[in-house]
Amino acid sequence: MSKHLDVWKVSKIYETPSGPVEAVSEASFSIREGEFVSILGPSGCGKSTLMMMMAGLEDVSEGVIIERDKEVTGPRPDVGLIFQEATLLPWVSVIDNVLFPVRILKRPRRDYEARAHELLEMVGLKDFHQHRPAQLSGGMRQRVAICRALILDPPLLMMDEPFSALDAITRDEMNVALLDIWQRHPKTGVLITHSIREAVLLSDRVLVMTRRPSTVVCDISIPFERPRDPRIVESAEFNRLCNQLRGYIESGYAADQNNRYRSAAAAVATTE
Ligand SMILES: Nc1ncnc2c1ncn2[C@@H]1O[C@H](COP(=O)(O)OP(=O)(O)O)[C@@H](O)[C@H]1O
Ligand SMILES: [Mg+2]
Repeated sequence: MSKHLDVWKVSKIYETPSGPVEAVSEASFSIREGEFVSILGPSGCGKSTLMMMMAGLEDVSEGVIIERDKEVTGPRPDVGLIFQEATLLPWVSVIDNVLFPVRILKRPRRDYEARAHELLEMVGLKDFHQHRPAQLSGGMRQRVAICRALILDPPLLMMDEPFSALDAITRDEMNVALLDIWQRHPKTGVLITHSIREAVLLSDRVLVMTRRPSTVVCDISIPFERPRDPRIVESAEFNRLCNQLRGYIESGYAADQNNRYRSAAAAVATTE
């Protein structure tokens, strides 16, 4: 499978009043077409920064990000984005929120209306299209945000802790909904999450980032076949993978191991 995104030795240094803050340090990895990759790491380690750079919403300080043979230099409409807060427009209905990207790009609304209703039905909000965001629960609002991110059928969907503000039961429901969406509309996905179980359930690969200035220290393949049955969470293999990842995160990865991974990653990249 060909590469969709190639992140090559990417660093980010924020200039702040109290001096420069190195948020990401020489992160390198690739994501293939159609692959779903999760990124795990402690708070403040630079995950959002990395995603913003991949989305073209934040410049890289060093390194390069390539999307399908073109350098990422700014935002583009073929990337769907979902954040922790649903950030819906409070004064317009659910259906108008879902169709908002269509309006922004001045495309004909009628070409997308049927798809908007289909997406709302898929996430269980068929009868809520005329509601206002204030009339919905947090989980329902986040489902609307997912529909909005999918309305233009972007080949790449990036999600930054999309379910972190939800209660555990709603979160499990959203995981199953996302698994279902992926089965029906295969695309490339990047998910930033604090949940190891969520990462293992949904992903083809899981990357772990260290504390700041952070880089990618481990890259694990999740071998479960698709379509995936959510009941894989009960399997021994699922729990083994979760424990393995937990071990990597908790050990924080000793500096020497970190350096070893970096030189290994650099060696792989230079031979490609
Ligand atoms: N716009 C910014 N200006 C200055 N520092 C920032 C900015 N955004 C993030 N940072 C800093 O960069 C580091 C990484 O932040 P972030 O990418 O949000 O981490 P994460 O998403 O992993 O919690 C943090 O120390 C944060 O304070
Ligand atoms: Mg973040």
